[in-house]
Amino acid sequence: MCGIVGYIGEEQAAPFLLNGLSKLEYRGYDSAGVAVYDNELHVVKSKGRLSVLDGILQGGKALPGTVGIGHTRWATHGAPSDVNSHPQVSDGGKFAVVHNGIIENYLELKNHLIRRGVEFVSDTDTEVVAQLLEYYYRNDVLDAVQKVIRRVEGSYALGIICADCPEKIFAVRKDSPLIVGAGQGENFIASDIPAILSKTRDIYRLQDKEIAVLERDNIAFFNEEREPIEKQLERVEWDVDAAEKGGFEHFMMKEICEQPEALRKTISPRIKENKVVLDDISLTAEQLRDVSRVFIVACGTSYHVGVVAKYAFEKLLKIPLEVDVASEFRYRDPILDEHTLVIIISQSGETADTLAALRMAKKSGARVLSIVNVVGSTIANESDDVLYTWAGPEIAVASTKAYSTQLAVIYLIVLYMAQELGVLSDKERKEYLDDLQRLPDLAESCLADKEKIQYFASRYFNAGDMYFIGRNVDYAASLEASLKLKEISYIHSEAYTGGELKHGPISLIEDGTLVIAICTYDRLFDKMMSNVKEVKARGAVVLGITTHDREEAFRQEGDFRFCIPKITDFMLPSLSILPLQLFAYYCASMKGCDIDKPRNLAKSVTVE
Ligand code: G6P
Repeated sequence: MCGIVGYIGEEQAAPFLLNGLSKLEYRGYDSAGVAVYDNELHVVKSKGRLSVLDGILQGGKALPGTVGIGHTRWATHGAPSDVNSHPQVSDGGKFAVVHNGIIENYLELKNHLIRRGVEFVSDTDTEVVAQLLEYYYRNDVLDAVQKVIRRVEGSYALGIICADCPEKIFAVRKDSPLIVGAGQGENFIASDIPAILSKTRDIYRLQDKEIAVLERDNIAFFNEEREPIEKQLERVEWDVDAAEKGGFEHFMMKEICEQPEALRKTISPRIKENKVVLDDISLTAEQLRDVSRVFIVACGTSYHVGVVAKYAFEKLLKIPLEVDVASEFRYRDPILDEHTLVIIISQSGETADTLAALRMAKKSGARVLSIVNVVGSTIANESDDVLYTWAGPEIAVASTKAYSTQLAVIYLIVLYMAQELGVLSDKERKEYLDDLQRLPDLAESCLADKEKIQYFASRYFNAGDMYFIGRNVDYAASLEASLKLKEISYIHSEAYTGGELKHGPISLIEDGTLVIAICTYDRLFDKMMSNVKEVKARGAVVLGITTHDREEAFRQEGDFRFCIPKITDFMLPSLSILPLQLFAYYCASMKGCDIDKPRNLAKSVTVE
């Protein structure tokens, strides 16, 4: 959500800023802008896609200068427009600011400044930061930055340049990600690594209220009291290719296809000699025995992983588990204490509601274990224990390989707990672990039959509505399949449990309505067939996702089928989701949608 990039060096800043911003497009945005210093501050910004700004700047050539900041904006305060785009500039023209986050007390600060004669031009909360900087500025930018962060409340990642101090870029963050890249004679800031990976692999991660001052040959860090601090340089190990499309038309398809490999990376190092080995966590068997209740808290796709987890936890461990969306959890009164384990799931590790839920859980004394993809992210840093998903960078807004690897980590946790608590026989444990280790190959086999799904999508991509039904883990998969479809193809869809159909949703079924029935959970297969009959009797066309051994039985009831291999019940969503990710992708592609950057959505939602 919003992308920040900054450059100071010997080369021209604008072409780099445009390129860096293009690598952050996945975060979601509706306008873009840059500020470059060349004897004075030059700001160019525009509503719409980055290509519009790129055109105005002729790829950057039209804006000379070797120091600059750039931004892609996802509107929160004030509609998408040229004037509300960032950088925002102070009234006197000294400061240009790019911002990710929300300044919660901006109105109070704005009114205060207006009373002192400051003129505002935009509706943004960000402009308050620019104006406040100039208001506090007494020939010492660092001092002004320090004063501003004492006054503003909310979340921010800020990139700042000042016309009086054009040999420096200032950066500071709180609850919004920001990294500093270290180069040779050039340095960078960015919201995320892909923006600077073409230039450097050496990065610093800013922590809350740490201030970075970048010059061409130096980077200095200060705490909020302005005391110099030392920071650890990190080397980014993953490849530039991981953040490029590598021959695929869209990141989403690339990431769908990467799932078998991502699963291997997540699973195989953690199974040794028929045991789950979670070296990365410090939870002891004694602490696990002490857990009387588990919460899983997350948003979006990560929340859907939690829905699968509930079935697995309760079946194998007999420990009560509650799953909640973070934005609800943080505002209710969940019963949390030191016997509670809270599992936080987040691809980005920066989702504002999820982070707030984590902090609330920690405050209550609960133990927090997080499942995160982005290494060193805020959620990872603040958790008691972290299990990384090792999925590599996920760029497409619609999450696919993060979902698959998060599920794999859930299976590992459940089996680890079962092993430590001694609730499974060796034979049972081996069977589960064998299935988990087969998962990457089975996923590969499910993805091999893309054409079948493509054909099916070609028949139905024009549908106005679709319904997904399933029971037990198939219902959990239905939720995710429905989200995937609506996110990227804008087709209205809903997911219902098979048993709930007749309590309302069945009234929506009419001649030709497409119903996708996930029927892989063997124990309830017959019940699902009754549901299929019910919707067919009302005119629905039914696509079934079922296991190979049930193909014939399904053929007698449904219209089309896609079969997946059989596997342990609670692992079924890892396979049944694959054809449905493809289905969403092909529907969106046939409708001509912007698959990697769907309208109104952001990859990382860093505001509440
Ligand atoms: C946004 C993304 C979703 C994602 C959700 C949670 O809504 O568009 O794809 O599932 O945030 O993100 P997280 O990074 O916390 O998993």
